[in-house]
Amino acid sequence: ALISLRQLLDHAAENNYGVPAFNANNMEQVHAVMQAADATNSPVIIQGSAGARKYAGSAFLKHLILAAVEQYPHIPVVFHQDHGTSPAICQRSIQLGFTSVMMDGSLEADGKTPSSYEYNVEVTRKTVEMSHACGVSVEGELGCLGSLETGEAGEEDGVGASGVLTHEQMLTDPEEAADFVKKTGVDALAIAIGTSHGAYKFTKPPTGDTLAIQRIKEIHARLPNTHLVMHGSSSVPQDWLKIVNDFGGDLGETYGVPVNEIQQGIKYGVRKVNIDTDLRLASTGSIRRHLAENPKNFDPRKFLAVSTDAMQRICEDRMDAFGTSGQA
Ligand code: G3H
Ligand code: 13P
Ligand code: NA
Ligand code: ZN
Repeated sequence: ALISLRQLLDHAAENNYGVPAFNANNMEQVHAVMQAADATNSPVIIQGSAGARKYAGSAFLKHLILAAVEQYPHIPVVFHQDHGTSPAICQRSIQLGFTSVMMDGSLEADGKTPSSYEYNVEVTRKTVEMSHACGVSVEGELGCLGSLETGEAGEEDGVGASGVLTHEQMLTDPEEAADFVKKTGVDALAIAIGTSHGAYKFTKPPTGDTLAIQRIKEIHARLPNTHLVMHGSSSVPQDWLKIVNDFGGDLGETYGVPVNEIQQGIKYGVRKVNIDTDLRLASTGSIRRHLAENPKNFDPRKFLAVSTDAMQRICEDRMDAFGTSGQA
């Protein structure tokens, strides 16, 4: 059944688990997430970005989710809008049937320029008022993540949308977070704790301090009833990176957020963990390999099936690691 983000994350908080939120743009991604949920008995968050709506078309995206709910009636599904850039966009998503929206007021309506705190409070408060009247949950964002422009080429750590920032400037301030939630009434809050979007997060292998765990603890202590969200949470699996490059790809050396650090984050209050890039890498790697090894195949179902399978394995791994498995 379709449920709201608040319903799912309240349960996650009571039972100390996290939920991966996977971006979906097409049937194969929805299949992968739902097959993994079915295999592990997990509730799911499937999120659609503006890019997903543009790619698939709003009606197709909506009906892919409705099909998922019809085929897997025992799996709770949150249909979440990722990175809405205005209250009007969130309103349209509510009309379309999303059960949760993200009002990302950390950026102006162009989705690029960092906004003022006052602007963020105002657009988010408006969105909460409208969404809650419809039973829809709201995720806000406070802090400075890497570039959201393309979702492809992320930025180096230390480089945000407005240029080079210090590590401290990149982190969400706990005082401000408390004030923001008080003024807006958001159900969930995306915080900046060292991650950025896309495949190119870090240039060096992780050394155990990728995430600002202390900062998560401080924010959670002030906001025990607000569910914390981590964007840019792909782990950038080195095995998939290698497969992409072994079969004709050209991706540079790069590292993501280690799963064991995400587990630490969940221990201290993170409930929603956004993952897009990892599914892209698994999909591309598996398709490149399949086509290289099966040069006579021209039936797209064959390479799309290996892609679905590769993405499903990532989904299951994250559901197991985050404690989502068994919670449906
Ligand atoms: O936050 C960005 C997500 O990875 C979605 O990316 O805008 O290319 O669909 P997209
Ligand atoms: P990744 O690019 O790390 O997968 O993050 C996705 C995301 O945060 C979507 O909102
Ligand atoms: Na989101
Ligand atoms: Zn994001």
